[in-house]
Amino acid sequence: MFKANDNYLKLPGSYLFSTIAKKVREYKVANPDKEVISLGIGDVTQPLAPAIIESLHKAVDEMAVKETFKGYAPDLGYEFLRSAIVKNDFEARGAKVSIDEIFVSDGAKSDSGNIQEIFSSDNKIAVCDPVYPVYVDTNAMAGRTGDYNKETELWSNVIYMPCKAENNFAPEFPKETPDIIYLCFPNNPTGATVSKAELQKWVDYANENKAVIIYDAAYEAYISEDYVAHSIYECDGARTCAIELRSFSKNAGFTGTRLGYTVVPKDLKDENGTSLNALWARRHGTKFNGAPYIIQRAGEAVYSEEGKRQTREQIAYYMNNAKVIKEGLKAAGYSVSGGVNAPYIWLATPDGMSSWEFFDYLLANANVVGTPGSGFGPSGEGYFRLTAFGTYENSVEAIERIKKL
Ligand code: MLT
Repeated sequence: MFKANDNYLKLPGSYLFSTIAKKVREYKVANPDKEVISLGIGDVTQPLAPAIIESLHKAVDEMAVKETFKGYAPDLGYEFLRSAIVKNDFEARGAKVSIDEIFVSDGAKSDSGNIQEIFSSDNKIAVCDPVYPVYVDTNAMAGRTGDYNKETELWSNVIYMPCKAENNFAPEFPKETPDIIYLCFPNNPTGATVSKAELQKWVDYANENKAVIIYDAAYEAYISEDYVAHSIYECDGARTCAIELRSFSKNAGFTGTRLGYTVVPKDLKDENGTSLNALWARRHGTKFNGAPYIIQRAGEAVYSEEGKRQTREQIAYYMNNAKVIKEGLKAAGYSVSGGVNAPYIWLATPDGMSSWEFFDYLLANANVVGTPGSGFGPSGEGYFRLTAFGTYENSVEAIERIKKL
């Protein structure tokens, strides 16, 4: 008789954003006359920039012609896209990354979930708490996280690095040495960042302890302050200890078209000298048949002069929403952070409400959806996340409703 993977059975409940979507669906069915505003999942609302649409159209037309039709894409991605990535995302920032270290994919969510496959099952992970739930959940699926304690909401074999108001939502070096360290800056969910100098300390720590950093830079395009690094490869020594994840969803609105990439430097070797670049290439080649040609052409357009200008405007639009939300909440007496280098606003729930109590309260009384902080980890309890990815009108309206509570 076949047997299911027990590791999945240890996972508590459904995926955070699936749980929220279900609750919202049920609420809408029960309250068909209510206008619900979603500032929950970080999904964009602005259409793709004109330069991207133009490139998509052109690529679609190429697919209709025998001479320009494309079948399977190359494993690592088309060279036109990977060279634009190297030039714009790394060379322009003085970071050394070469084209054969770029692996184009269907998005940072898949890569952040799949990358753990190339590490030994007895490697120990360290995560910020709270954090994007994909990191812990996928390590749990791989059997790396031990047992889940329903009371404490902690996994027995995970090193948690609490990020709270007391430490400016920045992780501290853990007491126990991890093998794999997940870092995400600007952070999802807190919107916090660390300076380049602080990030350098993490790179040094990883190199000294022979650990690897999986660096999620999905929100780098939202950085507004100069002291924050856009890529971990701006730090010295990162090539021997860090993998970086990037997303086109967040920097150019590809949530519905799907595109991302991962950087695995060739200098990154395990204790036996095994190249992680070669392992990821092996994994990528075996399990992935390439992001679609038309989408990679769209990705290339993000780096054109027009594309850069238009996507910058979109980011400014979302960051204006972030300001509206943050200032509105402050004026209403909430304790708020984030929203300066990231499209997420992190607030302390009022009146001692738990994160999920506040979720229900906000949905029922303001018809606004947010994300409960505890869904990102136990240190997120008592906090709540609002996203700036809504429309301007909805962001303003949501804050007006919250002010009236
Ligand atoms: C989020 O809301 O945390 C993100 O949008 C989820 C994701 O990028 O998968």
